[in-house]
Amino acid sequence: MHLGTTLTQFIIEEQRHIAGATGEFTGLLNDVATACKMISNGVNHGGLLGVLGAAGTENVQGEDQKKMDVISNEIFLKRNEWAGHLAAMASEEMDEVYQIPEGNPRGKYLLMFDPLDGSSNIDVNVSVGSIFSILRCPGNENAEVEQSGRPTPMEAFLQPGVKQVCAGYALYGPSTMLVLTTGRGVNGFTLDPNVGEFVLTHENMTIPKDTKEFAINMSNYRFWEQPVRRYVDECLAGETGPRGKDFNMRWVASMVAEVHRILTRGGVFMYPMDEKLREKGGKLRLMYEANPMAFIIEQAGGAATTGHERIMELQPQAIHQRVPVVLGSKNEVDVITGYHHAQAA
Ligand code: AHG
Ligand code: MN
Ligand code: MN
Repeated sequence: MHLGTTLTQFIIEEQRHIAGATGEFTGLLNDVATACKMISNGVNHGGLLGVLGAAGTENVQGEDQKKMDVISNEIFLKRNEWAGHLAAMASEEMDEVYQIPEGNPRGKYLLMFDPLDGSSNIDVNVSVGSIFSILRCPGNENAEVEQSGRPTPMEAFLQPGVKQVCAGYALYGPSTMLVLTTGRGVNGFTLDPNVGEFVLTHENMTIPKDTKEFAINMSNYRFWEQPVRRYVDECLAGETGPRGKDFNMRWVASMVAEVHRILTRGGVFMYPMDEKLREKGGKLRLMYEANPMAFIIEQAGGAATTGHERIMELQPQAIHQRVPVVLGSKNEVDVITGYHHAQAA
């Protein structure tokens, strides 16, 4: 049995280092962790609970929703709307900002989430996850509890990633893990399903600076911009090419699984701009995917850019905004970003 630090214990100790944090932050992360445990339970039971398959609806992004997308979203809302830690929530699966129901206490944090990432993998029993990001609500920072009843505007969420107080993901894989950062490194917890607690198993996760592994959806090759083609061509050329080494490729199609692999053994992940995506701005969502993952990756010693700029410095224009993403081992991300700069020059 693992007698290590539990997530609750870890958060309480962590909170002592967050300026201005009261017990609220601990309570909030506990509720997020409970939501992840409930989603994990649903994902693990799969077909037995009848939660697989399509919901028959589309989200605001025009994507088909899976039943488990809808259920996971509902779980996140229900677990986090009651305790008074939050001013509002925003989700990949909801058109508008979710206001805390009338009568419930309101707090100083904002919670953003992708309740089920990689949901195209759910029916084929491949790893999926949840991603979350926490900001302070501007103007509400020191409020004990915001009781005005005024709705929290969408603009409150439009803060660059550098403002995140905490970001994390849960990975529903062979084991369920929760990985998070509060800006003091990255730590990974494994769910002990018999006890129902996350236990610290991966302390201070760090990403090797160099790698020989890349992840990209190769079927988009003909739509990519020149710098991405150049990079991938050079990887494929291997030992005989300009990089002078052979590369390996992986593509799970669940960003959470991809990021977790990179945190474990290094690598680079790309969902770059391409001709098909230009109008949308990219594939992945800035607030629910790119920013939280960028925070985690940077805290583990990696880098995260759009190819041109550091993701966490982007000023968001809308909650559902999409961006190109290049993240992972620092030196490799620098090579790819360098190719984008060389082309732009
Ligand atoms: P989501 O399931 O939340 O919509 O996210 C899916 C994302 C990401 O997890 C993954 O990296 C990518 O979309 C997969 O895209 P392709 O289907 O183009 O491979
Ligand atoms: Mn996603
Ligand atoms: Mn999703």
